[in-house]
Amino acid sequence: MKRIAIYPGSFDPVTNGHQDIVERALKLFDKLIVAILHNPGKASLFSVEERVEMLEQSLGHLDGIEIDTFDGLLVDYAAQKNAHAILRGMRAVSDFEYEFQMALMNRSLNRDVQTIFLMTGLRWIFTSSSIIKEAARFGGNIDGMVSPTVNQKLKQKFGFDR
Ligand code: PNS
Repeated sequence: MKRIAIYPGSFDPVTNGHQDIVERALKLFDKLIVAILHNPGKASLFSVEERVEMLEQSLGHLDGIEIDTFDGLLVDYAAQKNAHAILRGMRAVSDFEYEFQMALMNRSLNRDVQTIFLMTGLRWIFTSSSIIKEAARFGGNIDGMVSPTVNQKLKQKFGFDR
């Protein structure tokens, strides 16, 4: 049986912290499906298509990766993909409450899907897509926090690419 995990998220945009989690997870799973929630109700900086493209540029070279989008319940998507694990990265204590709630809700919705948490590398403990966007919005230096491609896309979005 293939060990398949879903790594769900907004990925708005993918960061080096996400990439760190993906590289760790690929040592545990045969296949990792990085899945962007398609949620028209939630405001995002990048369109789903742009986010897929950035994920492909950042992670596409890794063996065992599939990049996809989903809508509706995550556990239903996991079942449809034959995945028995949902992967989430954990940074600090501040992540815990939200992650705990989500994991228990997902468990009550489908007991066959387990949530697995991986600790991010110490280098990425303070980074998130939101805080990186906040810095980039005002022209802050985010070198080394995202891939050069994502960095360039953020500069374009916020008008710092001249
Ligand atoms: O990167 P994010 O925004 O923290 O990811 C949140 C995500 C996409 C994992 C979560 O919102 C989700 O799984 N949404 C799908 C709807 C769902 O299944 N909700 C029930 C579990 S709370």
